[in-house]
Amino acid sequence: MCGITGYIGQQEVVPVLLGALEKLEYRGYDSAGIAVLDNGELLVRKAKGRLAVLAERLVGERIGGTLGIGHTRWATHGEPSDINSHPHTDVSGRIAVVHNGIIENYARLKEWLQARDVVFRSDTDTEVIVHLINYYYRSPPEPGVAPGGILAAVLAALKRLEGSYALAVVAGDFPDRLIAARKDSPLIVGLGKGENLIASDVPALLSYTREVYFLKDRELAVLYRDHVDLFTDQGERIHRAPSHVDWDVESAEKGGFAHFMLKEIHEQAKALADTLRPRLTDPTGAAGGAMDITFDEIKLDPSWATAPRVVMTACGTAWHAAMVGKYAFEHFARIPVEVDIASEYRYRNPVLQPQDMFIVISQSGETADTLAAMRLAKQGGMRILAITNVVGSTLSREADLVLYTWAGPEIAVASTKAFTTQLMCIYLLALKLGRLRSHLSDEEYRRYLAALTCIPTQVEGVLGKKDLIQRFASRQFNKNKVFFMGRQFDYAVSLESALKLKEISYTHSEAFAAGELKHGPIALVDENTLVVAIATQETLFDKIASNIREVTARGAASLVITWEGEGAFASIADEVFTIPKTEDSLSPLLSIIPAQLFAYYCAVQRGNDPDKPRNLAKSVTVE
Ligand code: G6P
Repeated sequence: MCGITGYIGQQEVVPVLLGALEKLEYRGYDSAGIAVLDNGELLVRKAKGRLAVLAERLVGERIGGTLGIGHTRWATHGEPSDINSHPHTDVSGRIAVVHNGIIENYARLKEWLQARDVVFRSDTDTEVIVHLINYYYRSPPEPGVAPGGILAAVLAALKRLEGSYALAVVAGDFPDRLIAARKDSPLIVGLGKGENLIASDVPALLSYTREVYFLKDRELAVLYRDHVDLFTDQGERIHRAPSHVDWDVESAEKGGFAHFMLKEIHEQAKALADTLRPRLTDPTGAAGGAMDITFDEIKLDPSWATAPRVVMTACGTAWHAAMVGKYAFEHFARIPVEVDIASEYRYRNPVLQPQDMFIVISQSGETADTLAAMRLAKQGGMRILAITNVVGSTLSREADLVLYTWAGPEIAVASTKAFTTQLMCIYLLALKLGRLRSHLSDEEYRRYLAALTCIPTQVEGVLGKKDLIQRFASRQFNKNKVFFMGRQFDYAVSLESALKLKEISYTHSEAFAAGELKHGPIALVDENTLVVAIATQETLFDKIASNIREVTARGAASLVITWEGEGAFASIADEVFTIPKTEDSLSPLLSIIPAQLFAYYCAVQRGNDPDKPRNLAKSVTVE
């Protein structure tokens, strides 16, 4: 996730761009940059670090101009650095592009362009876009066809791109226009008087206008000073009336959601698709190939596939992702897995075996205990594979291999989209190793991959029923004890569900493996207890049904989270929330979502701010 903006009008453009980027900084803050057309010259200024570093660098520079684009970056391809910052320019320095999204086929496009003598300067996926635009601008796509100008060049370039983008283009030869386009990343056009703007999000536009076009997927806008033209990505004109935005600035920053946490819960479908899609070859079968998992960014050398053991370590929510990982690696790849909390691992004199695979998971990549555990394993000669959300983080720099969760910045302290995207990375690794170790047949492998491709849409389906969870929370938020229980994958999800609830609602909540009920927890169950059973492992339905009966017989209220169409629990639980059916072993990707929503709505009912829970920090960088 990055923030992009652009302006064409009468005002001096630099302060306009910096003001808009400030409003977009929540979308990424590892570098920022602008490109401005000043007297026919395209000036680019960019800097690693927060926007303030760029602003500081611009102090004392006299840059004029009334047309420009800007970017605030959350690195995906290429670490945070001046050179990888946007805008990116073509070889002539006459075209500049800012981009938010992921170009999935950039490696192939880069090779294609390099074969045409294009020299790349950065490690980003974005740079291919500007070179493609320049290529089509200079050389017409077919021999004998006259160049069609900058719009035709952008259209031709877009045809080559796979993946997601919101982008803005300025060109020295066209000082009267700014071109913007989107697919699967947000982009809004603001309509002013004698000036027009674009931004990734509404707040950046509100000081100029409330009349906007919410660009739809595969649409382009050409902004002039006095009007805006809309096109499809086939170059056909679109006519539609602008929308009026009446959000206040604060709710606009949260995309209309009451809190960042709720916004991030809703971003999960997209975040999961972003994490999954670039790692699947031919997901739609359009290229006639068989779907497979490829990790362009890491090379899993054969010794990883033969590792005798996987050791996983992390803290908090990331540790719960590792717990799901234990079941996933054992299930798909038949590798023995050891999972430990990083703060325990680092002090317990663990047995370090260099041939083992060490997987460390951290949203921030900066958690002190997690880094210490990783360094200990490294000293012991183990090879480190990190799963993290932050490009350039300490973890990403020190690990041998890094698999990124492409969730974008997570602002709310309680982790949601980072967790589900961590799960996605774990499933991809476990499935790939399962295939490499021949524990999955071709047919099973493809069936699981096909199921993964449905997950983002199924997440939307779960979110579409959030009102049911909200109503349930409004009846149950006052319970003073909430227990989550489940077996196997459902136990791991129970751990994360209980953590979410305690973090933000301050309700005493615990998770236990349902089979442990009789070994202690049942002594705590009374009329003031809510028990949430997660039940997605069909072979264990009878067992969990007995556990539910045991707690309801002692006066507890009960909620069951299970599959759509499953009738086993209707008569024994107070409430059943269903999720769309996927493979039992992939259920955590869906079953956690109602639990996140439940925690959120309970916190709100209790009058808490879910984004800033008491005593907690987003990133724990000290012991
Ligand atoms: C803190 C956060 C949690 C997070 C944990 C680990 O406790 O509040 O949300 O799961 O740290 O953070 P990491 O960045 O390593 O995933």
